[in-house]
Amino acid sequence: MYAYIMNSLFNTYKPFYLQRMSSTIWPVLISCLLLILLKAHGEEVGYCSTLTEHTKDLSNNNLTRMPSHLSNSIEYLDVSHNNISSIVHGDLSGLTHLCSLKVTHCGLQYISPDAFSSNSEIKILNISYNHLKVIPNLHLPQLRILDLSTNLYPSYALPDSFGNLSYLSILAISSKHATSVNVKDFVPLQNGHLKKILFGDGTELQNYENGSFSQLKSLQEVVLKVTFCQRFDIFSDMIMDFDQTQTKKIQLVKLFPDQCTIKTDPFKAFKDLRVLSNLSIVDTWLNSSVMVKLFKNVWKSSFEETEFLNITYNEDTPYGFWLPKQNHTTNLRSFVLDGVNHRQYHYPTFNVSMELVNKLTYLKFSGTGMNILPCNLISAIKSLQVLDLSNNLLEESGFWWIGCSSHKVFPALRKLSLSHNRFKDLAEIAKNVNNMKFLESLDLSFNSITTGKPCFWPPHLIELSLSHNNLGNNVFHYLSPYFQKIDLSKTGISVIPLNIMSLFPRLTYLYLSFNSIQVIPADLRAPMLVSLHIDQNAITFISQKSMEGFPKLRTLKAGHNPFSCDCDSFWFMTVYNKSLLSDWPQDYSCSTPPSFSGRRLETYERGWLSCQPGLQAAVVLSVLSVVGVALAIIVYACDGIWYTKMLWVWIRVKRRGYKRADRLLNATFRYHAFISYSQHDSTWVGSQLVPELERSGLSLCVHERDFEPGKWIVDNIIHCVEDSYKSLFILSKHFVQSEWCNYELFFAQHRAISVNDDSLVFVLLEPIPADSLPKKFLKLRTLLRRKTYLEWPADERKQRVFWCNLKAILQTVDQSKILKDVATDIAEMCPLVSVKE
Ligand SMILES: *[C@@H]1O[C@H](CO)[C@@H](O)[C@H](O)[C@H]1NC(C)=O
Ligand SMILES: *[C@@H]1O[C@H](CO)[C@@H](O)[C@H](O)[C@H]1NC(C)=O
Ligand SMILES: *[C@@H]1O[C@H](CO)[C@@H](O)[C@H](O)[C@H]1NC(C)=O
Ligand SMILES: *[C@@H]1O[C@H](CO)[C@@H](O)[C@H](O)[C@H]1NC(C)=O
Ligand SMILES: *[C@@H]1O[C@H](CO)[C@@H](O)[C@H](O)[C@H]1NC(C)=O
Ligand SMILES: *[C@@H]1O[C@H](CO)[C@@H](O)[C@H](O)[C@H]1NC(C)=O
Ligand SMILES: *[C@@H]1O[C@H](CO)[C@@H](O)[C@H](O)[C@H]1NC(C)=O
Ligand SMILES: *[C@@H]1O[C@H](CO)[C@@H](O)[C@H](O)[C@H]1NC(C)=O
Ligand SMILES: *[C@@H]1O[C@H](CO)[C@@H](O)[C@H](O)[C@H]1NC(C)=O
Ligand SMILES: *[C@@H]1O[C@H](CO)[C@@H](O)[C@H](O)[C@H]1NC(C)=O
Ligand SMILES: *[C@@H]1O[C@H](CO)[C@@H](O)[C@H](O)[C@H]1NC(C)=O
Repeated sequence: MYAYIMNSLFNTYKPFYLQRMSSTIWPVLISCLLLILLKAHGEEVGYCSTLTEHTKDLSNNNLTRMPSHLSNSIEYLDVSHNNISSIVHGDLSGLTHLCSLKVTHCGLQYISPDAFSSNSEIKILNISYNHLKVIPNLHLPQLRILDLSTNLYPSYALPDSFGNLSYLSILAISSKHATSVNVKDFVPLQNGHLKKILFGDGTELQNYENGSFSQLKSLQEVVLKVTFCQRFDIFSDMIMDFDQTQTKKIQLVKLFPDQCTIKTDPFKAFKDLRVLSNLSIVDTWLNSSVMVKLFKNVWKSSFEETEFLNITYNEDTPYGFWLPKQNHTTNLRSFVLDGVNHRQYHYPTFNVSMELVNKLTYLKFSGTGMNILPCNLISAIKSLQVLDLSNNLLEESGFWWIGCSSHKVFPALRKLSLSHNRFKDLAEIAKNVNNMKFLESLDLSFNSITTGKPCFWPPHLIELSLSHNNLGNNVFHYLSPYFQKIDLSKTGISVIPLNIMSLFPRLTYLYLSFNSIQVIPADLRAPMLVSLHIDQNAITFISQKSMEGFPKLRTLKAGHNPFSCDCDSFWFMTVYNKSLLSDWPQDYSCSTPPSFSGRRLETYERGWLSCQPGLQAAVVLSVLSVVGVALAIIVYACDGIWYTKMLWVWIRVKRRGYKRADRLLNATFRYHAFISYSQHDSTWVGSQLVPELERSGLSLCVHERDFEPGKWIVDNIIHCVEDSYKSLFILSKHFVQSEWCNYELFFAQHRAISVNDDSLVFVLLEPIPADSLPKKFLKLRTLLRRKTYLEWPADERKQRVFWCNLKAILQTVDQSKILKDVATDIAEMCPLVSVKE
């Protein structure tokens, strides 16, 4: 309910956030995006890249030849299950980065020696399940893994070019047409570093030359898929050869054909082994008579581990598996039986002296269909530390059956797995494990456990798995306070109890995957907890407060939860130390809001700013200041100051226009402006100023031109000034020197025209600092200091602004036209300014 309300809140809340943010901080977002793009997120698994953009799967495409026009960036190409009979020079010439090539089940018959001449990067080549009639020459200096198995070549003779495959580590080789192995066959690899060989395709060999495999000195693991029924001498020779290398583990697949009468002892070579230590027999029919022969030899051999996977067991001896007491001590420490098909319906009989297995520490009896434990047999193994009886048909009465002595059961057992069985009663199990005095770990997963009766656990039991049992929230009350590791995955839990600390004070590992937990409570405290798995639940966010309860946590698994990608997850997404997460980032994706559903949490960085008001303010401030600085630079670089000044003048003109409209309307002037200038500047005045102003309909009284001859100059000035709406002074150094003295006098006489009078307009043809003026020109100095003047710009575009401003100043204002003028002027101004930018 809580989670539901939270979700619905955020669904409506989020878009608002994003809208608001997009307008303020998009530059930040863009840089973030760039960062994400730049971030390399490639990962290498094995030898070759598994990135989807570098992989091409063209299997089952009805291809009849190698595809052309593939992207050069491809590193993994799969063209198996097609009909490609040959690979020749040029077929793969574009794929210079190819690392892994799979061409299986293609009916491939021929590979030319130069087929891979452009693909020297190939590390993995799988050309198994084809019709190759010769082992191809391969010039692939980087090759690590080569699978040539299940082809049709007549012998195992490797071409000389294999001598150059110095990195080859794994080789799979088999052909049903090759029935003998000769020493010279593997000579090219004898100086290489081959670690693993998978040899044979399940048929018998006719001939084997001693020493063929012993020359592969670096070999560590062998998978032998060769059947033996007649030629056990070959089997012995091969085993002995492998023992000459560094091979520890040998796996024998389909060792005997199903119908085979074995009279001799196939395993007599085992007693001479020195290096081989792990024996694995897979997919093989084993009669009890053969089994006895095998163990009599294993007992004397170097084998420490024997493993039987998926075997068919048949009792062909009257007393079953009967192994009398032996004089030898054995090396056997581990015995694994996983998957047995019984040929008989009766229970298999064992008569084995337990003294024989006095070093056995690990025993696995799995997938055997066992429903009653041969208790006095197994439970009496004194050295046994780990017993795995998973995947059988055991229940309480079969495991602790009546014939079992409760005194000498499992004297050293530490770990017991009863997973995938039919156990039911937790209280009964708890009572019985009290007899296993050293038991530390018990696995009861995948059973049908129920709770109800109180459970009394022994203090030495510290690990319990009850996963995949339908238990519910009450399960916590049937567990032991001594438990340090509890697995309750998929047990139907929806709430973590708040008092988990007082229930389990030593808890270090808690696994709660696959439940329906919605929140990790914020006030949960588990100071010892090192590992927590809470993946596949219904958790929408992981808060800082809840994680503060686990100060020692080293591993957290929380993937596959329906995370809501909003501010609740902010701390987890940004601050939380991801190296503690074992399943990050692939298992973490957003569930809500719907627009982010399915997106990886890792890539969700868009809204992060919105969750930190302080940070947001800081970013906005810094962005603003950056923008400010940028603007300042632009303004400086593009003469923005000049434009601003002009704009200021223009605004003032317009503002005054309102106030003075009355005066203008009532007064009558002969001229719009009286223009006074120095003789020295007459060229500019005559060619630019006067034509420009008169063209726009202004009438001018021009100094000298319109002065009445014979009148005193000051009188002329007075006359013109009084008849004009404005007086325009073209200031230059020459003007100041030659003309201004007249005006000083004039202004001194006409106090009525004050300094603040708007009728005076100054145009500066060149810069004249007020301080550079002679001291006697008091008036001018004040005027230049106090009044805004127009500067004549050299730049043509600026000159248009200048004219526009000047005309606005000189124009007689018609009140009704003011607003219209403002609008037109702005329209005129704007393109002028934007041209520059
Ligand atoms: C390949 O051919 C079979 C039969 O002709 C057809 O059913 C199948 O769809 C084809 N596959 C592709 C990938 O073209
Ligand atoms: C494979 O292709 C060849 C021709 O390139 C054709 O003769 C043959 O029948 C095809 N084989 C199969 C199994 O489609
Ligand atoms: C080669 O491909 C076959 C068929 O898919 C597969 O069974 C085999 O494991 C592959 N070999 C290697 C070395 O991966
Ligand atoms: C091995 O490689 C060397 C150098 O690339 C070359 O000269 C030599 O012929 C190669 N050997 C074989 C057998 O291909
Ligand atoms: C192979 O070597 C074994 C001893 O390791 C010997 O008994 C056997 O006769 C040899 N076989 C051949 C064919 O040389
Ligand atoms: C196992 O014994 C049966 C007879 O009980 C025999 O037919 C079969 O060939 C034997 N198989 C092996 C692999 O020993
Ligand atoms: C071989 O057996 C030993 C003892 O059981 C085991 O510890 C080891 O992991 C095994 N090695 C391999 C390669 O399976
Ligand atoms: C088990 O072994 C038999 C042969 O003994 C084989 O046919 C079967 O496929 C194997 N099963 C598995 C699961 O490997
Ligand atoms: C088990 O074998 C011993 C000899 O090793 C024999 O004395 C005993 O009777 C056998 N037990 C059964 C139940 O066959
Ligand atoms: C065990 O050793 C004794 C003598 O120490 C010997 O008499 C007996 O035959 C040996 N048994 C086996 C099965 O080798
Ligand atoms: C994150 O955790 C790892 C492993 O516990 C540690 O090495 C690393 O320093 C931590 N990083 C930070 C930023 O705390």
